[in-house]
Amino acid sequence: MENKNLMFGMRSTGRLHLGHYEGVLKNMTALQPKYDCFIEVADWHSITTSLDTKDMKNIIFEMVCDWLAAGIDPKKSTIFVQSCLREHAELHILLSMLTPVSWLERVPTYKEQIQQLDLGENTSYGFLGYPILQAVDIALYKAAHVPVGRDQLPHLEITREILRKFNNYFNSPVFVEPQAVLTEMPMLLGTDNRKMSKSYGNSIYLGETAEETSKKVLQMITDPNRIKKSDPGNPDICNVYSYHKIYSGQAVLDRVKDECPKASIGCVECKKILAANLNEKLAAHREKREQYVKNPGLIEDIINDGNKRASLVASATLSDVNAKMGLKYFAK
Ligand code: TRP
Ligand code: SF4
Repeated sequence: MENKNLMFGMRSTGRLHLGHYEGVLKNMTALQPKYDCFIEVADWHSITTSLDTKDMKNIIFEMVCDWLAAGIDPKKSTIFVQSCLREHAELHILLSMLTPVSWLERVPTYKEQIQQLDLGENTSYGFLGYPILQAVDIALYKAAHVPVGRDQLPHLEITREILRKFNNYFNSPVFVEPQAVLTEMPMLLGTDNRKMSKSYGNSIYLGETAEETSKKVLQMITDPNRIKKSDPGNPDICNVYSYHKIYSGQAVLDRVKDECPKASIGCVECKKILAANLNEKLAAHREKREQYVKNPGLIEDIINDGNKRASLVASATLSDVNAKMGLKYFAK
């Protein structure tokens, strides 16, 4: 039988923004009809870089609301929270026994994150093991498919190596070597032209109001050469225009392309049009999201149900692993 299991995890490091919406959420809902999806809140992955969990419960709650509002169907897909499944901890220990430290140190994101987050000598053993934690996510559900952006390919490669090593050593195909479902994420920059990120304060959040979004759009950086309204502008180097390409129709694109270089449309007007179109596109999502946010009991039920379903699959895999490794000799 063809393996249609797909595993996807998302760290719970902050509220979801427009970049997540255009990349991850749209992608997940498009894949959902074709695969049996396991969608995880990777909260243990989050604490590999920061132990600050005071907002975690809320972030997870809102994240799941956004998934549901975007169209993830909890009956079809299994939504669960990593820290609720102790099977993940157990397999993490077991796979860490067969993962050479040199493989972990070689993963490019390891050194990059140390630099970016200025972790210096303070990186933990858990942080080094991040790729093992991810391999576990994929392995427990025998997922043959993992949607990833290019930056995540090294994580998938080490997952494949770890699982292959297990299968070879124990001479048994317990694990499936996953394949990437490569997704080209549209590059949506933040309001200041840098990568959209919580830490830059340049994000447009799905959970904010239309007014807040409009305010941010009006503050967006435009063509840096257009200082005065009478200066001609160049839409091709303007982030506002890149947004128009996603959120406005052809008529607006034609108009801006024609009038911006002639300075006959001003940036304020151009941004107002964008804000209106963007808010219109987000309105349905925001409305649905609000319905879920108002119903925390429902979200809790969905997560509990997902945790149970995930646990059934995960514990079956884990029993198999323990048996193959010759462990749990005296367990009933
Ligand atoms: N490392 C991924 C990220 O930072 C998150 C993640 C955790 C993940 N577990 C996963 C992605 C399993 C795919 C499959 O985005
Ligand atoms: Fe950018 Fe629009 Fe201003 Fe042109 S008019 S520079 S496209 S914001």
